[in-house]
Amino acid sequence: KILILDFGSQYTQLIARRVRELNVYCEIHPFNKIPELDADIKGVILSGSPSSVRDADAPKPDLSNIKGHLPLLGVCYGAQLLAAEFGGEVEGAPSREYGRAMLTVKDQIDPLMLNVPSPTQVWMSHGDTITRLPENYHIIGSTENVQAAAYHIEGEKTWGIQFHPEVYHSTDGTQILSNFVLGICGCSGTWSPDSFIETTVAELKAKLGDDRVILGLSGGVDSSVAAMLLNKAIGQNLTCIFVNNGLLRKNEFDDVLDSYKHMGLNVIGVDASERFYNDLKGVTDPEQKRKIIGRDFVEVFNAEAKKIEGARWLAQGTIYPDVIESCSVKGPSATIKSHHNVGGLPKEMNLKIVEPLRLLFKDEVRRVGKAMNMDQRLLGRHPFPGPGLGIRIIGEVTAEKVRVLQEADAIFINGLRDAGLYDSVWQAGVMLLPVQSVGVMGDERTYESCVALRAVISTDGMTADWVHLPYEFLANVSNEIINKVRGVNRVVYDISSKPPATIEWE
Ligand code: XMP
Repeated sequence: KILILDFGSQYTQLIARRVRELNVYCEIHPFNKIPELDADIKGVILSGSPSSVRDADAPKPDLSNIKGHLPLLGVCYGAQLLAAEFGGEVEGAPSREYGRAMLTVKDQIDPLMLNVPSPTQVWMSHGDTITRLPENYHIIGSTENVQAAAYHIEGEKTWGIQFHPEVYHSTDGTQILSNFVLGICGCSGTWSPDSFIETTVAELKAKLGDDRVILGLSGGVDSSVAAMLLNKAIGQNLTCIFVNNGLLRKNEFDDVLDSYKHMGLNVIGVDASERFYNDLKGVTDPEQKRKIIGRDFVEVFNAEAKKIEGARWLAQGTIYPDVIESCSVKGPSATIKSHHNVGGLPKEMNLKIVEPLRLLFKDEVRRVGKAMNMDQRLLGRHPFPGPGLGIRIIGEVTAEKVRVLQEADAIFINGLRDAGLYDSVWQAGVMLLPVQSVGVMGDERTYESCVALRAVISTDGMTADWVHLPYEFLANVSNEIINKVRGVNRVVYDISSKPPATIEWE
């Protein structure tokens, strides 16, 4: 496997995903918590960073057990660190360099540059530049502004590159990473969804034996794939619980429950809608709503879980981005919204946690699901917030508002599917606004609600842009909603990006 040391760059996870795409397993660890360097680690990559090596408090780990001993590739900050710490010089560039640059390969037979055409487009994002390299550093690539854009340390398997090979705009970035990971480090590239399934199922069997396991299904990709893996390993010893909080999409509870049963899962559906509606009465504050929905979910889930005799384990669909220890070199980021809805477990049940997907990225979870022949429609689903439509009804939630929103949402989402747009949108939904406005239908004056359509593209939900959906399409959706959904006489389209807006309105 490959070890990636994180210095807090926004691109670190992308490096990991690119390495995984080469079917090589890798792990991200914070720069200040280097794990034990066992024989499994075939090479190390140093990530970029928002810091400057010139800062007094710049992250500078002790690399003496790595550099010169294992293949090492420094990317951006990583490359500057390897230069600055060993006798070179790094200075603030006269102008920060962001975006495309053309790299001229200076050494075509260098193993890192094999099969990389010259010149090739690379993506730069840095404020500092290496102005002088230590003596035994050999330049293998340059751009117009950056002499030392890529170098090799003679006598060592150590390289540094100023650009970001992991981003899409570095045309031959994948080739360079492949040269490092498969060529220089000698990784075998056999880590595939099938091999993951095989080893994970075997591990789960060994770990769980004849124990009973409980899992909460949400209808989303992660919990569903986790359930299928466990089902493969322990079959009917897995009991799944699927709670209807009354805030799911139209028909979702029945449809999803049905498809789970078809998949052979042992699943219990609990309809607790009334309880959620009751507890949400009169509540308008978004965080308060989240807390109530989260608390009710835990209580309903636990009451059901307690009925399952002899349960020893709780399975969760946690994935790798939730597990990677975040490395915040610039201080902790503020909590904008509280997202976590699954709270404490009943202590007296003494359940141990099992997380079969904790090493996978989202796209890998989908690939694993596909390899298990799971329904493409389920695997390709947009993300959906835990509090569901509860945070898409601005203000107080009532059963009637949920009905109105479900209808409007179904028209929008089905419209996206029918128009072939669903898969090019990262997430879409409808918000029901606490606004009444005047309209005219036939000869009658109406005074009804307004809904806002939201469709965004994003890779992780952290930043997002609104999708430029075709006017024709928006016109059709708007017409259909106003004609068919009683209580709505106005439709607007949200054209805010995140930041400064967020994806959800609450
Ligand atoms: P925001 O609105 O913060 O949303 O831009 C980013 C992503 O997170 C989802 N989201 C939530 N998910 N519980 C969840 O499980 C929540 O309370 C919650 N709030 C927002 C949102 O749908 C988007 O995908």
